[in-house]
Amino acid sequence: MSESAPSNQRILVGVSGGIAAYKAVTLVRRLVEAGCEVRVVMTESATRFVAPLTFQAVSGHPVRTTLLDAEAESGMDHIALARWAEQIVIAPASADLMARLAAGMADDLLSTLCLASTAPVQLAPAMNQQMWAHPATQANRDVLLKRGVCLLGPDAGSQACGETGAGRMMEPEAIASAVLADTGAPSRDLAGQRLVVTAGGTREPIDPVRFIANRSSGRMGFALAAEAARRGADVTLIAGPSALPTPAGVTRMDVQTAAEMQAAVEAIETMDLFIGAAAVADYRVADPAGQKLKKQGETMTLELLRNPDILQGVADRAERPFVIGFAAETERLVEHAETKRRAKGMDLICANRVGENLGFDTPDNALLLLWEGGRRDLPKADKTRLAGEVLDTYQQIRQEKHASR
Ligand code: CTP
Repeated sequence: MSESAPSNQRILVGVSGGIAAYKAVTLVRRLVEAGCEVRVVMTESATRFVAPLTFQAVSGHPVRTTLLDAEAESGMDHIALARWAEQIVIAPASADLMARLAAGMADDLLSTLCLASTAPVQLAPAMNQQMWAHPATQANRDVLLKRGVCLLGPDAGSQACGETGAGRMMEPEAIASAVLADTGAPSRDLAGQRLVVTAGGTREPIDPVRFIANRSSGRMGFALAAEAARRGADVTLIAGPSALPTPAGVTRMDVQTAAEMQAAVEAIETMDLFIGAAAVADYRVADPAGQKLKKQGETMTLELLRNPDILQGVADRAERPFVIGFAAETERLVEHAETKRRAKGMDLICANRVGENLGFDTPDNALLLLWEGGRRDLPKADKTRLAGEVLDTYQQIRQEKHASR
C-alpha cells in the first residue's frame, strides 16, 4: 500500500539477537522498495534467529556478521562501511546491544560500526517487558537518548514470551516510515485519506478589543497537518489565530472562536481521520460587549457559558472517522488521559504533561499515546518527529483492526 518517492539513502540495518529479528526482514524490504541502498549487519546471536542468506536476498548484498572476516574486510572494510552509512537503524535492539552501545564497547562488528560512524543511529528495542523496565536498561536508554540516539518504540502488548507489557518491537512498517521520514523520502502511506486537524487556541471575545485565550501556539497541530500532507493525505487544517505559516499542500481555514471552529468542522461531512489538537476554550463570555468596556469598580465579573465539545461532536457522528484527541495534564497523566479518552470515545489520545518546559508554546514535547489495549511513550523530541510517530501509531492501529476483522 505504501508508495514511496525514491530515496538513494545508504542505510545500515543492524540486527541483534531476538525473536523479533524476523520482522527486520520486512523492514529491509520496505527500505529497499523505497529506493534505499541497504547493507545488513547481524550480531552473532541474530544469526541464530534468521539466516544471513535471508537478509542477503532482500537487501541484494552480502550480509556481514563478524568483525574479523578477512575476505569481507578485503572488500569494504568496517571503517569504510561505517563511513558509507548515512543512517544506522538497529532492529531489533536487544537489552545486551543497548548496554554495549551505552558503554561505548566495540566487541563485535555492529557495536564497532556504531562507534566508528557519525551517522544518526535509530534503535527499535525489543525485549521481555521486565528487561525493558529494569533500571539498568532504562539507564542505558537515557544515556543513549542523551547522546542523540533516536528510539523507535518499544510498543506495549503481548510478547513472544507470553508476558504483556512494554518491550515489543515497533512494527516494521512503522519503523520504515520513521526511517524514511528522516531520508526526506516520505512514505506516501496516507494517500487517499481525508484528514481534518484543529490547531491552536481559540479566542473568546469579551469586547471588541479583549478576549480570553490560552498559551497554545498551534505547533503540534500544524506539525501533524504538515506531516500528514507530506505522506499524501488530503489535509484540512482548522486553525485558531496563529502566526505559523501554512504547511505545504494543506488547506487552511482560520477561525477565532470555538463556535467558528465547530462550524468549520461540522461543514466537513466526510473524513477518515479527525485530530483535535486545538486547545479549545471550554467557556465563552455569555454576552460579549459590543463596545469597549470601560473600567468601573474594583472587581468585575464575567459570566461564562460552556462551549460545545468539537471533538465529541465528531466522535458522536453516525459515520465517525478515527478520532485522535489531546490531553494536557499537570498531574496523574495516565489516569486522567485514559478517563478522557473513554469519556469522549477517542480511538487514540496523546497526553502531554504540561510544565517542565514541555507542552505549550515550545518546539519540543513528550507524549504518551494511549489506545484500547496499547500504549506508546514518545520521549522528548521536536513536534515534527512526534507528529510522524502519532501518524505511524494511527496507521498501526488501523492495520491491526483491519487484520483482526
Ligand atoms: N476539545 C474540543 N472541543 C472542546 C474542548 C476540547 O474539541 N470544546 C478537544 C481538544 O482539541 C482535545 C481534547 O478535546 O483534543 C481535550 O479534551 P478536554 O477534556 O477538553 O481537555 P481539557 O480541556 O484539558 O479538559 P479538562 O479541563 O477537563 O482537563
